[in-house]
Amino acid sequence: MTGERTRPARTDSRPPELAVVTGAAGGIGRVVVQALVEAGLRVAATDRQASLLNGAFAKAPKARISTWTLDVTEAAEWIEAACGEVDVLVNNAGVYEQTPMLGELDEQAIRTVLEVNLLGTLRCSSVFAGLMADRRRGRIINIASISGLTGAALASAYAASKAGVISLTRSLARELGPAGITVTALAPGFCDTPMLAPHARMVEHFHVPRIPFGRVSQPWELAEWVVFLATCRCGYHSGSVVAIDGGMSCG
Ligand code: NAI
Repeated sequence: MTGERTRPARTDSRPPELAVVTGAAGGIGRVVVQALVEAGLRVAATDRQASLLNGAFAKAPKARISTWTLDVTEAAEWIEAACGEVDVLVNNAGVYEQTPMLGELDEQAIRTVLEVNLLGTLRCSSVFAGLMADRRRGRIINIASISGLTGAALASAYAASKAGVISLTRSLARELGPAGITVTALAPGFCDTPMLAPHARMVEHFHVPRIPFGRVSQPWELAEWVVFLATCRCGYHSGSVVAIDGGMSCG
């Protein structure tokens, strides 16, 4: 009982055509956009400020990349109608803040981190899941963080927000699976982007010696995985969290 004849029909084997990426002007986001375009998709690149998008995509081919100002902390049902029939949503927008527990608690920083990283992911997923469910096809890819699995000293709110993204991924995989939507997460370790830059010295001296690969990752190494999760013909893959951390979380 093996082989082609017993293989169940795919729910929808057409290749994806249109992806939305949040936080697209950032270090990982802009490389993800480029990689998806190279894989043959059109991409709606979104970020919280038009100036950021202009800086990142001024010379991009308009037929393949459209830009939209979208702050994930705000309700934005309009984006779904503006973009059209979205096959892939990459929830990439994120902020990192240190929120040490000893001393005075920075409530504003904690709220911002949770609002952008966790609620922003939830909000955007909800906006696009409806149309994906109507079409019985869609892939949601969440950029979490390895800190959501391991925790992070001095950045507990950030780590908790990413643990929330991982939990959200698993819950939505259960909830949206019957509607033909897959939901997966990537959990990067340290990646060479503007987010990491202010902490580069500390990461180089303290964390890199503990990474089996002996270096931080480059954005393209994340982007390759986004492309794989977005375009892989096997639609039976959902709810997983893939660590892209050079083996760091293996202990
Ligand atoms: P980045 O700082 O270069 O890019 C983040 C992007 O998100 C920026 O373009 C920013 O404008 C956008 N953004 C922030 N708040 C927003 C909002 N309210 N609405 C819409 N867009 C908003 O950072 P990077 O490294 O490219 O981060 C991308 C994702 O990867 C984030 O979710 C981050 O938490 C995650 N990540 C990054 C790691 C790293 O070491 N760089 C490690 C683990 C996860």
